[in-house]
Amino acid sequence: VILSRAAVSSEFANQVRRFSISSKKNVKVAVCGASGGIGQPLALLLKQSPLVTKLSLYDIVHTPGVAADLSHIDTPAVTKGYNGPESLKDALSGMDVVIIPAGVPRKPGMTRDDLFNTNASIVRDLAEACSKYCPKAMVGIISNPVNSTVPIFSEVAKKAGTLDKKRIFGVTTLDVVRSNAFIAEAKGLDPRKVNIPVIGGHAGITIIPLISQATPSVKFEKNELEALTARIQDAGTEVVKAKAGSGSATLSMAYAGARFAFSLCRAINGESNVVECAYIASDVTEATYFSTPLKLGKDGVAQNLGLGKLSAYEQDLVKAAIPELQKTIKKGEDFANKSS
Ligand code: NAD
Ligand code: LMR
Repeated sequence: VILSRAAVSSEFANQVRRFSISSKKNVKVAVCGASGGIGQPLALLLKQSPLVTKLSLYDIVHTPGVAADLSHIDTPAVTKGYNGPESLKDALSGMDVVIIPAGVPRKPGMTRDDLFNTNASIVRDLAEACSKYCPKAMVGIISNPVNSTVPIFSEVAKKAGTLDKKRIFGVTTLDVVRSNAFIAEAKGLDPRKVNIPVIGGHAGITIIPLISQATPSVKFEKNELEALTARIQDAGTEVVKAKAGSGSATLSMAYAGARFAFSLCRAINGESNVVECAYIASDVTEATYFSTPLKLGKDGVAQNLGLGKLSAYEQDLVKAAIPELQKTIKKGEDFANKSS
């Protein structure tokens, strides 16, 4: 059962209220890449939530300043900055949730895969650190190319003997957030009440919005449906072009990353019916990693809710995405297995 977003938000508000009165578990959250375009607004959103009791901000630059600044906000999360690899042990030990937006963003004309050479080793090194210092943490990977960085993280954890596939997520929440926004705009709906599951991966044709499963139900002519799907698939590039060389989506990603992190916190606190789409190790299709709606629990993925009923158009999108996913998954796995 997928709750409508209105029900989720109102349940979330109730949960936050209950939590403020009797906090259940202390949820400790780390951000790796905390000084960046995503990292800073993400850290701000996490700091303002009573769901987070400790906020650990790791980067290779500027974290003393970011942490000093945020620590003056009058909310409970105890905020500390950690700078450079020698501080990884202190940054990660005891963390329940680790969100990773470390790495370079795209410039116009680049694909996400063009970031592989730089970001693959950043994610590999952070995976080694997480395996050592917080092997039980739930990990949300934002760094691109997500279709490859999630397999890299898993392979490193596998080698370290700490792999728990239920706890490693590629963050695709921004694709859901964008789909909700664009479809609400097209139909004149309140965007808070729209929910569009997005499956597959997080690059171009692997991003598959399931508009046939929209809540509330919406209908489009074929050409409109194709144009909306293409806009959702290219939305990252739309922002990269608009930013004209200064980076990619940061603010909307921080919003989406915070939503995903809060869902993990709520699941850790035992809340039921926490559902998010994310890119995980999966046997739902022939691609060994695939995003679908997931019910989250205390130990990560509690139930993979699968594809649901797809329209013929969506079935074709899935068919086209699988070979592309398989190629980028293999690229990530080969990198991790060669390089560590
Ligand atoms: P940015 O350059 O503004 O910030 C990246 C931060 O990572 C910097 O502060 C940098 O110092 C830090 N960093 C670099 N190497 C590090 C390391 N080894 N350990 C820790 N931190 C390190 O970039 P950004 O705009 O914040 O984007 C970050 C990543 O997120 C990019 O790869 C981008 O493509 C990706 N992204 C993903 C999504 C998504 O939907 N999953 C959305 C937007 C951006
Ligand atoms: C996005 O979807 O905005 C991110 O993956 C960043 C990018 O490079 O498009």
